[in-house]
This record gives sequence, C-alpha cells and structure tokens, in this order.
Amino acid sequence: MILPDINRLRIVDVLEAARESPSVKTFIFSDRLCRRAVPGQFVMVWIPSVDEVPISLSGIGLEGLCSISVGLVGKATEAIHKLRKGDCFGIRGPFGRGFSVGGKRRVMIVGGGTGLAPLSALTDKLAKVNADITFLFGAKIRNELLFYDRIGKVPLREARVVPATEDGSYGFDGVVTDVAEEMLKKERFDMVYTCGPEQMMYKMLLLAEKHHVPIEASLERLMRCAIGLCGSCVIGKYRVCKDGPVFSGEELREVKDEFGRFKRDFNGSRITV
Ligand SMILES: Cc1cc2nc3c(=O)[nH]c(=O)nc-3n(C[C@H](O)[C@H](O)[C@H](O)COP(=O)(O)OP(=O)(O)OC[C@H]3O[C@@H](n4cnc5c(N)ncnc54)[C@H](O)[C@@H]3O)c2cc1C
Ligand code: FES
Repeated sequence: MILPDINRLRIVDVLEAARESPSVKTFIFSDRLCRRAVPGQFVMVWIPSVDEVPISLSGIGLEGLCSISVGLVGKATEAIHKLRKGDCFGIRGPFGRGFSVGGKRRVMIVGGGTGLAPLSALTDKLAKVNADITFLFGAKIRNELLFYDRIGKVPLREARVVPATEDGSYGFDGVVTDVAEEMLKKERFDMVYTCGPEQMMYKMLLLAEKHHVPIEASLERLMRCAIGLCGSCVIGKYRVCKDGPVFSGEELREVKDEFGRFKRDFNGSRITV
C-alpha cells in the first residue's frame, strides 16, 4: 500500500512557542503540506515515547508558517507544553475535511476553549474573502478568552468581536450561546461556524435550525490512525477523522442520537459529553 504524502511522518522544529493563556500555548513551525491546509483540518502530533494526538491548525501559512495551539490536558499535551524554541516534534497530516469558506458573506463564528484554535485559522481565511464577521468568544473566566487580541488584529472588512464570560468578569455576563441567540433573533446571517464544547455546539445547531441558518461544527472524537482505517473516531455512519472533523447541520442531524450526548473511549464505552 502506498501511503499518501500527508500520512508521512515529518519532524518539524519549534520556531516560536508562545503562551496564549494559563493553560494554552501556541507553537509555530514550518511544513510544506500544512501550508496548503484548509481551516478546520488537523495534524497528528507525535511526541516520541509519549503519544500521538490530534491537534487542529490554529494558523495556516501565516507568512509561510503554521501553528498549533494546545491546551494542557494530560501526558501528551504536557509533553508538548514543555517544548521550547529549537526543539522538534513529529507531525502527520493535515487530515480531514475543514470548514467551507467560499461565498459566505455575513457569518457568525461561535467558539469556546481550544475550539477557538481552528476558528482563528478560519477567520484569517474569511478575512481574505472579505466576509462580514461576527465573532462570539466564550470562556468561563476572562484569562481563558483565547485569541481575543489576535482576532482583534486581523484586518477585517466588517467585524464585531463579542466576548462572553460565565463569571461576568469580561464582556457579556453569561454563556456565549445566549449572545448568539439574541443576535440570531434580530439579524440575518448566511452561515454559522462553531467549535468548542460539544454542548455549546449542540445548542448552536438547535439555534441555527430554528433561525434557518446553515451551520458547520468541528467535532472531537478519539483518533488513532487519522486516515479512516481504525474506527476509533466513529459517530453514527461517519468517521470524524475523514468525513469530518467539520460537519454540516444536516450531517449532525443524522447522528443526533450521539451528537451532544456521548462519545466513546478507547474501549468503546460511552462517555457523556
Ligand atoms: C480533530 C481534533 C482536533 C483537536 N484540536 C485540538 C486543538 O487545536 N488544541 C487542543 O488543545 N486540543 C485539541 N484536540 C484535543 C486533543 O487531541 C486532546 O486534548 C489530547 O489528545 C489530550 O491528550 P493528553 O495525552 O494530553 O491527555 P489524556 O489524559 O491522554 O487524555 C485526556 C482526554 O483527551 C482526549 N484524548 C486523548 N487522546 C486522544 C486522541 N488520540 N484523540 C482524541 N482525543 C483524545 C480524551 O477526551 C481524553 O479523555 C483535538 C482533538 C481532535 C479530535
Ligand atoms: S482515527 Fe482511525 S478511523 Fe478515524
């Protein structure tokens, strides 16, 4: 079997490592294949003797470079966080289907947590097609509002950037889906893009359907092979690594027994999302 180029392991150097928040760091690297990626696609990041984990591209082709932004969760992400400028790590990818960008004039982007990483790459792309963007950021507390400054600096034609914190320490006092609901009641959007906690994305699916706006959401499931072979990432009839991770509202409807309800661990047991 001839492996496609993207599945070939490459070793890349950390060109820059920067802290985004107390628990999230961004790593800039250069890779020929990732530079051509679509926002929403991910790479498998390999840390020798530790693990290989899926991470979305948070920046694509920025002056020829790419980035990943990684939240501190367990042993693999802890090992990634220890990387410094000049260290190296392995990558395969970019994998999966990303967000569709063409022809969307007035868009709402709703993100939370490390879900804001692929949405940051998406915003760069939407800026290039002169989309009119409303970006709603959600976090529990102010210092977890990822990429807020970065998005504010993207040269956008028409843009609103609205933060929401659950403790009310910054911006709207409450959950980001409440801000989205108020806006969807009053204004017309051509597309909603979302990535973040699955309950948040589920709520956005219901809101988008209610207000007749197309939606795309980026899902997380356990991943091993990332090329559609092992079955670790299935949701209904789909393999998230290959058919997703970005799914349309119609596709999410088809997997409504699982989406927003449960995912599976490496033993196949159900875990509530
Ligand atoms: C398509 C996709 C894109 C992602 N993008 C990002 C991103 O941009 N930034 C970011 O910080 N995180 C991202 N994640 C989540 C990231 O993969 C997990 O946080 C990471 O795998 C945790 O590994 P760990 O060893 O540090 O923690 P562990 O303690 O090993 O695991 C903690 C939890 O992380 C998840 N996880 C562990 N291994 C995997 C795996 N192989 N596949 C999927 N989930 C796993 C599970 O929910 C697990 O319970 C993404 C996941 C997917 C599926
Ligand atoms: S990770 Fe193996 S099929 Fe998706």
